[in-house]
Amino acid sequence: MALKFLNAIIVFLLNMNWGIGDYTNIRCIESEREALLEFKYSLTGESDWLSSWGDEDGKEECCKWQGVQCSNTTGHVIKLDLKAHDLRGKLSHSLMELQSLEYLDLSFNYLVEDENLKWLSYLSSLEYLDLSYVYLYKANDWVEVVSGLSKLSTLKLSRCYLPTRNLSPSFFNASTSLVTLDLHQNYMSLSTSSILFEYLFKSTYKTLVSLDLSSNNVNGLVPSSFGKMVALRDLDLSDNQLEGMVPESFGNLCSLRSLNLSRNHLNGSLAFLHNFSSCANSSVLEILRLHSNSFSGSLPDDLSLFPRLKEIDVGNNYFNGTLSSSIGNLFELEILNVPSNSLQGVFSEQHLSNLSRLRILDLSSNSVTMKLSFNWFPPFNLEFLSLRSCKSGPYFPNWLATQKNIRYLDLSGNGIIGTIPKWFWDFTPDMHYLNLSKNQIHGRLPMLPTKFPSLLVLDMSSNSFDGPLPPFPTDLTILNLSNNFISDSIMSFCNSKSMLFQYLDLSNNQLSGVLLDHCVSRWTRLQFLNLANNYFSGEISSFFDSLPHIENLNLRNNSFSGELPWTLRTCETLKFLDLSDNKFSGNILHMIGTRLLSLEILIMQSNEFKGRIPLSLCELMDLQVLDLAENNIFGNIPQCFKSLRTINLSGNNLARKFSDIISSLYALNVLNLSRNNLAGELPQSIEEMTQLMSLDLSQNQFSGEIPMNLSKLAFIKHLNLSYNHFSGRISSSVQLKRFNADSYIGNDALCGPPITQNCPLEAPSDEFKKWLYIGLAMGFFVGFCGTFGSLLISRTWRHAYFSMLFKLKEWVLRRFALYRAGIQWSLQKGG
Ligand SMILES: *[C@@H]1O[C@H](CO)[C@@H](O)[C@H](O)[C@H]1NC(C)=O
Ligand SMILES: *[C@@H]1O[C@H](CO)[C@@H](O)[C@H](O)[C@H]1NC(C)=O
Ligand SMILES: *[C@@H]1O[C@H](CO)[C@@H](O)[C@H](O)[C@H]1NC(C)=O
Ligand SMILES: *[C@@H]1O[C@H](CO)[C@@H](O)[C@H](O)[C@H]1NC(C)=O
Ligand SMILES: *[C@@H]1O[C@H](CO)[C@@H](O)[C@H](O)[C@H]1NC(C)=O
Ligand SMILES: *[C@@H]1O[C@H](CO)[C@@H](O)[C@H](O)[C@H]1NC(C)=O
Ligand SMILES: *[C@@H]1O[C@H](CO)[C@@H](O)[C@H](O)[C@H]1NC(C)=O
Ligand SMILES: *[C@@H]1O[C@H](CO)[C@@H](O)[C@H](O)[C@H]1NC(C)=O
Ligand SMILES: *[C@@H]1O[C@H](CO)[C@@H](O)[C@H](O)[C@H]1NC(C)=O
Ligand SMILES: *[C@@H]1O[C@H](CO)[C@@H](O)[C@H](O)[C@H]1NC(C)=O
Ligand SMILES: *[C@@H]1O[C@H](CO)[C@@H](O)[C@H](O)[C@H]1NC(C)=O
Ligand SMILES: *[C@@H]1O[C@H](CO)[C@@H](O)[C@H](O)[C@H]1NC(C)=O
Repeated sequence: MALKFLNAIIVFLLNMNWGIGDYTNIRCIESEREALLEFKYSLTGESDWLSSWGDEDGKEECCKWQGVQCSNTTGHVIKLDLKAHDLRGKLSHSLMELQSLEYLDLSFNYLVEDENLKWLSYLSSLEYLDLSYVYLYKANDWVEVVSGLSKLSTLKLSRCYLPTRNLSPSFFNASTSLVTLDLHQNYMSLSTSSILFEYLFKSTYKTLVSLDLSSNNVNGLVPSSFGKMVALRDLDLSDNQLEGMVPESFGNLCSLRSLNLSRNHLNGSLAFLHNFSSCANSSVLEILRLHSNSFSGSLPDDLSLFPRLKEIDVGNNYFNGTLSSSIGNLFELEILNVPSNSLQGVFSEQHLSNLSRLRILDLSSNSVTMKLSFNWFPPFNLEFLSLRSCKSGPYFPNWLATQKNIRYLDLSGNGIIGTIPKWFWDFTPDMHYLNLSKNQIHGRLPMLPTKFPSLLVLDMSSNSFDGPLPPFPTDLTILNLSNNFISDSIMSFCNSKSMLFQYLDLSNNQLSGVLLDHCVSRWTRLQFLNLANNYFSGEISSFFDSLPHIENLNLRNNSFSGELPWTLRTCETLKFLDLSDNKFSGNILHMIGTRLLSLEILIMQSNEFKGRIPLSLCELMDLQVLDLAENNIFGNIPQCFKSLRTINLSGNNLARKFSDIISSLYALNVLNLSRNNLAGELPQSIEEMTQLMSLDLSQNQFSGEIPMNLSKLAFIKHLNLSYNHFSGRISSSVQLKRFNADSYIGNDALCGPPITQNCPLEAPSDEFKKWLYIGLAMGFFVGFCGTFGSLLISRTWRHAYFSMLFKLKEWVLRRFALYRAGIQWSLQKGG
């Protein structure tokens, strides 16, 4: 073995002509040397790696140039390997001079082909061609050219942005001897029923060993002719748009070692796996990746057909049934990934006891129950274990104590009750990801920097941890401790060395104290900070200017006070800001508009902010939710919120006519202006707010009729107009929306269903006449008749009429308590 290797090195060195052997003559062929130089000069920028290429004395022998190899008999360049040397620029066609070239690799550079690949067709000796990453978006002739290279056995054109086009059937003629075909990541739209696809098959099916069409847009059904590629060892069709079932003919692929069909739209069962039984011997399949499709049915009961399986990845499908214990006989298995299916049943020692090579086990998001005895000693050493939302509780799994290599552990939502055993904190120093959220674990968190020094992600949320916040490991990036009983100040936490936090969620605990500047200001990578529902107090100091990446800041329901610091305006990346339920005061800041241009959600309700809504808020083009409810905001609503979805200004001191703002609010879904001093009538133009789903105008001074056009708001589900001065009949078309009386109560001059107050106009001969007579009798009508006459010709006579009628009624009621019994009788009759 070692000898063979040495030999190979010597042969290699001889071929490279690096001083070994006696070559006095220059072998390089002049025209090929010029072609190579032309190639070099067409590149942009100087490449150090090509410095041996040149015109100068001593550089004549092109066979000694970096990456060039000549035939030791003819002197022709036979190999050009320039893979991954940061070459940039246009691909020179001069390479067509190298007509004996057998091996050409220009991959992983920044080369561009501006025209077509005709030059390639002159290289008829090519056996190996790798142009991966060369930008070939204009090379419409690539299929013709490539199919003309009859000696080609390896073709790699990945990430070339290959164009697709319709081919004529004449291509069926050409046949190649391709062994390896790699076209992955070309974003190429290719129907499995197209001629090009058929061509790929017909010309290559006898010889092809490795086929990679992943990360394209290969669409349509999987052709059963795949079954003819009997030499195939590696097939990667992942990350495409394939649909339908996997044909049974796949069972003919008796040489298949790895099958990757993940990330498609494939469905149906795995029946095709049974057809591998027709292979002379059992299948040699080692890797089976089917994740992220729509496969259903059960996983095979009997996997003895596939004794060599190393990897099973069938996650994110619709598999149901149980996991067969025949998995226990896959002695080579290293990876078992079945997350996010509908598997059930018990997973036990029977499945695991023989899997001594297992490294990765992911059963998460199924309904599997783990049943492993307390003293079980596993034969493997896992690196990755995810049992997310399996049922392995109520005891903490003891067998984990043997897993010294584990780096990723997810036992969230496992119904684990009690405390974490002591050994856990010391069993593996290499833990990177730990998720124990959504259990019922209590106790205190230990000094994690010494226990898990490499920890990057820690999620202990939704448990019953208590005690103070300990310091955390230096590299911790994501920390979620929300929904626990962690208390005291965050002093010692602040003193920890962790500076890389990106996500920090401490919400729903009992933390108190002030947020120290020096604490937060060290977390310069912070994107997400949630301190909601704690007992933090004091002013938030000026740490904002040290959070250049913050996107999401939630301080809801604490006792923060004081004015917002000016440094807030430096958080230009902020998308979500919730300051509600605190004691912040001062003016709503002008700077929010001018600087926080990424803001999408702004919630400041239930504070002591005062002042006008700054016009600068109009500059927030992405603002979706504006909630300033329960503050002391007065003045007008700016007429500029064009793209806003939700406005809540309830419980302030706003005063303006509603009609003025409507024209700018046509995108709104939710509008809450309740409990202000808004007055005037609602305009018919309310119908322009076509997206409105919820409208709350209660407890204002609105008057006039409820516009009929309200009925044109197709999506409206919630309406509250209560406690205003609306009058008149509730239009039956509005009432088609079936709001109940609560939507209208407290408007003394409103009538008709659903409120019990009957409309006088409905029964002029009964109701109206009755009140008329009573009124006449009382002498009230002396003035009324005159007014009524002129009202009849007025445009708004109907409101006035109703108002008048109700005033009359009230007047009567007040004056004649004696009549009360009779009036009640009449109201009941009417309602
Ligand atoms: C020429 O090179 C080939 C390999 O490419 C090698 O097998 C052969 O021995 C070499 N011949 C001479 C004369 O060096
Ligand atoms: C088939 O190939 C031969 C030679 O390669 C060529 O002469 C002939 O025109 C081709 N036939 C078609 C239909 O293209
Ligand atoms: C499977 O996919 C095919 C093609 O998309 C579709 O026609 C068929 O109804 C699907 N079958 C099932 C069971 O979903
Ligand atoms: C696949 O196997 C099933 C039953 O095991 C059989 O009916 C079917 O003909 C086989 N298909 C092929 C293409 O061999
Ligand atoms: C598909 O799986 C193979 C292993 O079988 C792997 O080498 C390849 O990278 C995978 N493809 C993609 C696109 O991830
Ligand atoms: C099948 O397996 C047997 C025993 O392992 C072996 O002798 C034989 O060569 C194998 N046949 C094929 C076609 O691989
Ligand atoms: C699995 O799902 C199929 C429908 O896709 C259903 O017919 C079958 O009964 C299910 N099996 C189990 C064990 O739930
Ligand atoms: C483990 O492998 C042995 C040997 O093949 C077998 O007898 C035993 O049944 C296997 N154990 C389990 C639990 O599958
Ligand atoms: C922890 O697991 C839960 C599911 O149980 C998941 O929602 C959460 O995102 C995980 N935490 C982290 C930080 O990945
Ligand atoms: C933290 O955990 C809680 C509850 O488990 C979850 O609702 C919240 O989204 C998590 N926070 C982050 C930043 O993922
Ligand atoms: C506010 O936070 C405290 C402390 O966590 C909590 O007890 C209370 O329920 C929260 N209030 C609301 C309205 O969420
Ligand atoms: C608006 O704020 C008020 C007062 O806090 C609250 O009761 C109401 O639910 C909020 N409405 C909407 C639609 O957000």
